[in-house]
Amino acid sequence: MDPKRNPFAPGAGTQPPELAGRDKITHDADVALGRVKRGRPAKSQMLLGLRGVGKTVLLNRIAELAEREGFQPVLLEAPEDRRLAEMLVPPLRTLLFKLSRLEHAREIAKRGLGVLRAFASVFKVRVGDIEFTVEAQAGTADSGSLESDLPEMLLAVSNAAKQSGSPIALFIDEVQYLSEPDLAALIVSVHRMTQRGSPFILFGAGLPQLAGLAGEAKSYAERLFDYPEVGPLADESAREAIVMPLRREGVTIKDEALTLILQQTKGYPYFLQEWAYHTWNASSASPIKAEDARRATEQALRALDTGFFRVRLDRLRPREKDYMRAMAELGPGPHRSGEIAQKLGIDVTTAAPLRSGLIKKGMVYSPQHGDTAFTVPLFDEFMRRSLPNWAPSGPGPEPRNRRRRRHRGHS
Ligand SMILES: Nc1ncnc2c1ncn2[C@@H]1O[C@H](COP(=O)(O)OP(=O)(O)OP(=O)(O)O)[C@@H](O)[C@H]1O
Ligand SMILES: [Mg+2]
Repeated sequence: MDPKRNPFAPGAGTQPPELAGRDKITHDADVALGRVKRGRPAKSQMLLGLRGVGKTVLLNRIAELAEREGFQPVLLEAPEDRRLAEMLVPPLRTLLFKLSRLEHAREIAKRGLGVLRAFASVFKVRVGDIEFTVEAQAGTADSGSLESDLPEMLLAVSNAAKQSGSPIALFIDEVQYLSEPDLAALIVSVHRMTQRGSPFILFGAGLPQLAGLAGEAKSYAERLFDYPEVGPLADESAREAIVMPLRREGVTIKDEALTLILQQTKGYPYFLQEWAYHTWNASSASPIKAEDARRATEQALRALDTGFFRVRLDRLRPREKDYMRAMAELGPGPHRSGEIAQKLGIDVTTAAPLRSGLIKKGMVYSPQHGDTAFTVPLFDEFMRRSLPNWAPSGPGPEPRNRRRRRHRGHS
């Protein structure tokens, strides 16, 4: 059928044609927002899930709800190796400028700008030619300790927002990439704002290891946040994700075709979009038949192997690829760390730094102590497809020529 009319949307953070199976999460977020707006306590939330389950899409959806409720939404993505202070200053500055134009919030917004300026300067945030137009407010948020300055700065901004009648909702994607001191300071800030009854709420999203990282940074993080799990879609929702957009296009799908897509994708949202997209293109007319879905499988797998999966594999060093391949040999997982090391032909202590490097890169996580699992669904099948004749390279240092190639590749 006409690819120009294809409603499906495989991509990163791309709004799906039907946001299926997430009513509970959006409803709970809506309740939390409504409570904050009314000055009632509500927990901040960290959405946890594997790659491609729809965390970014949900954060954006909740940001829309927040805006509709009259919040000032501030959206950030935490890429690897970027400081929280650097990410926060520019959007907060824009926000305060906006508030300073409102008559009843002018003075407090200007004070907020002064505090933000002091904060930016003490944490050496290179604001380039960003103009502040106010003097730095000495003595607030400028001690140099992020754990005390970040809460003070956010309180100052939040007070200005409160005065303007629109509380702040902060959205941070990929929270697992924040450094430990940044994450700790963020948690302390949420804690302080909650204690003060400040109208503020944080919605974060990240890989499943985030819950553990937050708990390690501050033990009370467990009680401070709700951690909604964003998983694969249950059968009925996965069907809806496909049937509803088709229906809007006046297209139907045979049950056999739908079942085939569900089996292949295991209900993972990104894969559902990819399969549905290729199935649409592979079929010539409504109703879509099993044969179309079967042909699309080949296309979808090719798209994944050269895109979604491949970009992740390309970020790894040869030794790390080896580790992932050994895991894949054992199946979808999770696997015991000892078993993976055994497959690799090395001992657990030698394997440990490889494993922690992969956790940092967001490739694997530890669902529970001693276990290791892929953060990308179906990655084991991909690893076996892409390295079919694999044998462990065994103990010893990383081969020199491979190492050199890696450095060149990264420069
Ligand atoms: N509830 C849903 N129903 C149908 N499709 C969805 C749903 N949620 C997300 N998608 C689709 O899944 C894909 C991945 O979504 P998104 O980028 O939000 O995932 P993510 O969890 O943020 O992934 P990553 O961890 O890689 O950043 C997108 O193409 C999106 O349109
Ligand atoms: Mg995302």
